[in-house]
Amino acid sequence: MKGINDMYVRDIFARISWRYDLMNVVMSWGMDQAWRRKLVNKCMLREGSMALDVCTGTAMVAKELGRAVGKGGKVIGVDFSPEMLAMARAPRDGSLALVRGDALNLPFSDSLFDCVTAAYCIRNLKDKRQAAREIARVLKPGGRFAMLDLELPKNPLIRELYRFYLHKVIPVLGWLIVGYADAYEHMAWSLEIFPNREERKKILGEFGLKEVDYEPLIFGGMAIQTFVLQK
Ligand SMILES: C[S@@+](CC[C@H](N)C(=O)[O-])C[C@H]1O[C@@H](n2cnc3c(N)ncnc32)[C@H](O)[C@@H]1O
Repeated sequence: MKGINDMYVRDIFARISWRYDLMNVVMSWGMDQAWRRKLVNKCMLREGSMALDVCTGTAMVAKELGRAVGKGGKVIGVDFSPEMLAMARAPRDGSLALVRGDALNLPFSDSLFDCVTAAYCIRNLKDKRQAAREIARVLKPGGRFAMLDLELPKNPLIRELYRFYLHKVIPVLGWLIVGYADAYEHMAWSLEIFPNREERKKILGEFGLKEVDYEPLIFGGMAIQTFVLQK
């Protein structure tokens, strides 16, 4: 089976950036930002913390992180798509910095962040092991990594209904709302080759990240998986 093609992923997000946020609201039935808030809560951030949001896109997680770390904290959102970052509208008070960069080669020094988040990110990366290496490298010992992504439900009936929604319904919505169905076919397909929970545990474990929490959402069609970098 083919893997993820970086150039194709760049092209997808360049083309859908203009309606990315709206499409998220529609396909999640208005629940997407609540899931991002849950993700940020898993970081258990204190006022003044340093947080990084990888594949920040339009910075919807990064803005939630900003609220969690307060005025004394600092949040950085990193993404390789200038088109997605352009839609982010970061607050002008300097609390959130948006940086263009590759998740597989993060432009930050070692042990800098108390928390790293990644929403709908790892699934889109061509080298999951390299992503894990980079996340572990920039985290402080004891720091948290929380990821939110699509998951294939365990229940066979729910799984097939979900597959129908992802493979058949969402691309039609993508065509109607964004004018580009292929991007959303890619989303459904990338889930089919996405390492499952146990495989992710193994990959991240190689770099000292230990799973401490796993919360399934929408009948297991999505999940938040949280890790701590062992000291
Ligand atoms: C599905 S969007 C997720 C955006 C955001 N995290 C959210 O909650 O909606 C995936 C993002 O990952 C970015 N991306 C994909 N591969 C990347 C890479 N190798 N380095 C940096 N960003 C990447 C894309 O540009 C896109 O903005």
